[in-house]
Amino acid sequence: MAALYQESESHSQWVHQALIITKLKHRIVKEPESRVVLMPFINTPIIIDRCRRWLENPHVRRFLHPNTPWTTDSGRTETYQDFVAFMSKSPHHAYFQIIDNKNDAYRRPNLNYGAIGLASLNGIDYNALTFNRGIVIGEPHLWHQGIAAEVGLLLLGLAKSVGFRQAKATANVENIASVKNLRRQFGPGKSRYPRPFVATQWRGTWEPNSSFAWPESWFC
Ligand SMILES: CC(C)(COP(=O)(O)OP(=O)(O)OC[C@H]1O[C@@H](n2cnc3c(N)ncnc32)[C@H](O)[C@@H]1OP(=O)(O)O)[C@@H](O)C(=O)NCCC(=O)NCCS
Repeated sequence: MAALYQESESHSQWVHQALIITKLKHRIVKEPESRVVLMPFINTPIIIDRCRRWLENPHVRRFLHPNTPWTTDSGRTETYQDFVAFMSKSPHHAYFQIIDNKNDAYRRPNLNYGAIGLASLNGIDYNALTFNRGIVIGEPHLWHQGIAAEVGLLLLGLAKSVGFRQAKATANVENIASVKNLRRQFGPGKSRYPRPFVATQWRGTWEPNSSFAWPESWFC
């Protein structure tokens, strides 16, 4: 009887997980006034090429892990094909392509051409209902226009709508735009040492109903 119960419990957990990830992977995320739209991250040659273009740009890579793109082992750089194939399927990552609706240069009949970057919920934990938020605007001439701020709020709204309890994020403290957005959307955060690839990190969390205020005790 106990075994049967355990089995049905794990089955219902599996169904719960499948429902969440299916919603995340197929969702088009936008708000009526938003400049950007988040579209599903699909394994196509165009997306692979875009990822290569963005993630090989030294300006874009500056604050990213030096082994980017990696998937399960941060010590090993993957090919762009493997990276996109993995992230488009993984149940523990929900990746989106960011489409800029207001930039004619990126507007194409096929929205795959319009992608300007990546947005992601990484390391999804279905028990704790947490994830790590990631944003890359791959076209540096579009920086400082509030795009990442908007993308970040779209991701948090999406996360809330599917029942996540907490979002986490880290950023290099020298990454001024990231830290500014994270402080606004996640709260004060805290700097900490060390990670091998950055001198200092900002680290913080967001919870759906906490009005952007967290107990300082969470931070490590
Ligand atoms: C970090 C990144 C996502 C920021 O994207 P973005 O669209 O330029 O960010 P925003 O325009 O929303 O900027 C947020 C704020 O920072 C400000 N800001 C940006 N760069 C700044 C700088 N160098 N000095 C001072 N303020 C700066 C912006 O003016 C904005 O403030 P405001 O809302 O008061 O005007 C983008 O630069 C990027 O993709 N970088 C490469 C990948 C990366 O580092 N990702 C983050 C990993 S944690």
